[in-house]
Amino acid sequence: HPLVSIGTLVAFTTLQSGLLRPSVMLLSTGVDIQSSLALFGRIFEYLDLRPDIEEPERPAALPARVTGAVRFDEVGFAYDADREVLSGIDIDVPAGSSLAIVGETGSGKTTLGYLVARLYDVTSGRVTVDGIDVRDLSFADLSATVGVVSQETYLFHSSVADNLRFAKPDATETELHAAARAAQIHDHIMSLPDGYDTLVGERGYRFSGGEKQRLAVARAILRNPPIMVLDEATSALDTRTEREVQAAIDTLSANRTTITIAHRLSTIRDADQIVVLDRGRVVERGTHRELVERNGFYAELLARDTFEDVVGALES
Ligand SMILES: Nc1ncnc2c1ncn2[C@@H]1O[C@H](COP(=O)(O)OP(=O)(O)OP(=O)(O)O)[C@@H](O)[C@H]1O
Ligand SMILES: [Mg+2]
Repeated sequence: HPLVSIGTLVAFTTLQSGLLRPSVMLLSTGVDIQSSLALFGRIFEYLDLRPDIEEPERPAALPARVTGAVRFDEVGFAYDADREVLSGIDIDVPAGSSLAIVGETGSGKTTLGYLVARLYDVTSGRVTVDGIDVRDLSFADLSATVGVVSQETYLFHSSVADNLRFAKPDATETELHAAARAAQIHDHIMSLPDGYDTLVGERGYRFSGGEKQRLAVARAILRNPPIMVLDEATSALDTRTEREVQAAIDTLSANRTTITIAHRLSTIRDADQIVVLDRGRVVERGTHRELVERNGFYAELLARDTFEDVVGALES
């Protein structure tokens, strides 16, 4: 089976979503950008679109071993010039540590996470990785350094193996299976009629939301970036699926810098640092314990979350 060509993939994913900007698609799908830049150029010409994130002409050199320290330095961001979505964000995420971002819907959590992967450019301030402004990195370095598991997962019409392998084209079968196993999805794949050769996507086997998320985790494990941005799905998963997804994410988070955008506060109790966003500003930060004692925004979110869990348990 030949791999679906990058062109088909990009055309497909670009057309599939009119909501996300093409630059978002490029990076979040984890395509090897360096080798396909010319092709992307042509596709954008064809669709009369321009990626609005520009690659630096002379990219900065990353250290041979990236440690994965992330810093938000007085970051401001606006999608539209007249409304700032993030303001004065200052966060230090030491290499290998975990940061959880929580807050009301629309407070800017996803946007903040996306700035690390440079899916958008900051309007003011800067985001650095190992001290280097992400705008100074080549796209190839950036996509090898920062991985994103987003609220949406794109599967294209091809086999399960192809869908995984596109995170790492030279992955061996052993590597594919190991990643799928770590992501808690291997057994499920093996139970499908054609196993890893099962066709997925629009006209093939339809994975559930929780399964898609685990496939996304498997892709991220294959790519193995030192920094991971995890945007938890907002859609409710059943308890068992949620546990499986969480186990997959825990495996992924080990030994790397992890930025988790959390919708269920139960998943982030152990985070090294929790930041609460309110209308684009950091209003609280600390560990779970510190924030509970503070009895402020976090404590309120937590109370609501717990209440919803209890109601959910009573209803089911
Ligand atoms: N592509 C976009 N163009 C314009 N505005 C946007 C875009 N994406 C998000 N916004 C706006 O930016 C603000 C922050 O959105 P964001 O998605 O970061 O919030 P969030 O905290 O992740 O919310 P949720 O908990 O619902 O996922 C919101 O007011 C949203 O409407
Ligand atoms: Mg979000």
